[in-house]
Amino acid sequence: MSSGNTVLITAATGNVGIHAAACLLEEGAEVRALVLPGDPDVGRLPAGVQLCEGDLKDPAGVEAALDGVDGVLWMWPFFTLGVETAPAVLEKFEKHVRRVALVSSVGVHIGLERRDNNCHAYLEELLRDSGVEWTFLRTTGFMANALGFAGQIKKGGVVHFPYGEAARTAVHEADLGAVAARTLTGEGHARQAYLITGPEVLTQREQVNIIGEVLGRELGWEDVHAEQARAQMVATGWPPSYADGALDYFAMLTKEPEVGSKAVEKIIGRPAHTFREWAEEHINAFR
Ligand SMILES: NC(=O)c1ccc[n+]([C@@H]2O[C@H](COP(=O)([O-])OP(=O)(O)OC[C@H]3O[C@@H](n4cnc5c(N)ncnc54)[C@H](OP(=O)(O)O)[C@@H]3O)[C@@H](O)[C@H]2O)c1
Repeated sequence: MSSGNTVLITAATGNVGIHAAACLLEEGAEVRALVLPGDPDVGRLPAGVQLCEGDLKDPAGVEAALDGVDGVLWMWPFFTLGVETAPAVLEKFEKHVRRVALVSSVGVHIGLERRDNNCHAYLEELLRDSGVEWTFLRTTGFMANALGFAGQIKKGGVVHFPYGEAARTAVHEADLGAVAARTLTGEGHARQAYLITGPEVLTQREQVNIIGEVLGRELGWEDVHAEQARAQMVATGWPPSYADGALDYFAMLTKEPEVGSKAVEKIIGRPAHTFREWAEEHINAFR
């Protein structure tokens, strides 16, 4: 088992992985990225990251990337992957690495997601029962989820989606990446479950208003029935049970807004980014 400072990131070319990789490099770690063969997004990773081809559906292939690795940033793209190979992948981690930070979910933190109805709760349970030092990063929705509205904003400027008044503490993916990097390079994070949120509570409608302000044009929001959104979500690849869970959660958030935490600031020593800052960085995606 390694005692060095090499970190493997799974789902590395996604929203969080690219930021986590940059932060890990800044913290002096060696960084390996597990990427699918032919992943067109490898160019999003910073220079200096070592690419290891592998598929999370193939635990033996993942093991090939683990030689000399000390820690893993474990992200599991369960929409496309299911959870069948997760226990075998974790067994490979146990053979090689000292610690694993898992990107989990606020739903586990507040007891909505359980082992029988959600992947994050299941992965947490596996890790808790494993021999590795674990850290759970129970994150709220990403600010990048607003990119899902980009098509409608570009086309007509009115977003049609349910529950405009659902209020979340969305987190900037760069903040989550920075937290992940710190928990994997610093000490004191073993057996900790952190609630990772942004610095403010905003409704979905308020997020869209901010995007409009940054764009310099007025945008609208029109609530549509949850059933209509569900059909669209399922048509674009959401497993039906996850679409139901997400929409039920949004309905709840119209009455009980998410509650933020100070974990980002405490762990990385600077305030979390606001949604307006995120919108300014990503505004070209909405033009
Ligand atoms: N979005 C949210 O609001 C939210 C909230 C709470 C928790 N989370 C958690 O955050 C995690 C990270 O999210 P993210 O948006 O950064 O990334 P993601 O969407 O989960 O993952 C995308 C990445 O996974 C890769 N990938 C897909 N199938 C793979 C496979 N079989 N083997 C290896 N790699 C594979 C993709 O490669 P290709 O591009 O080549 O397909 C891409 O690099 C998620 O897994 C989720 O559990 C998200």
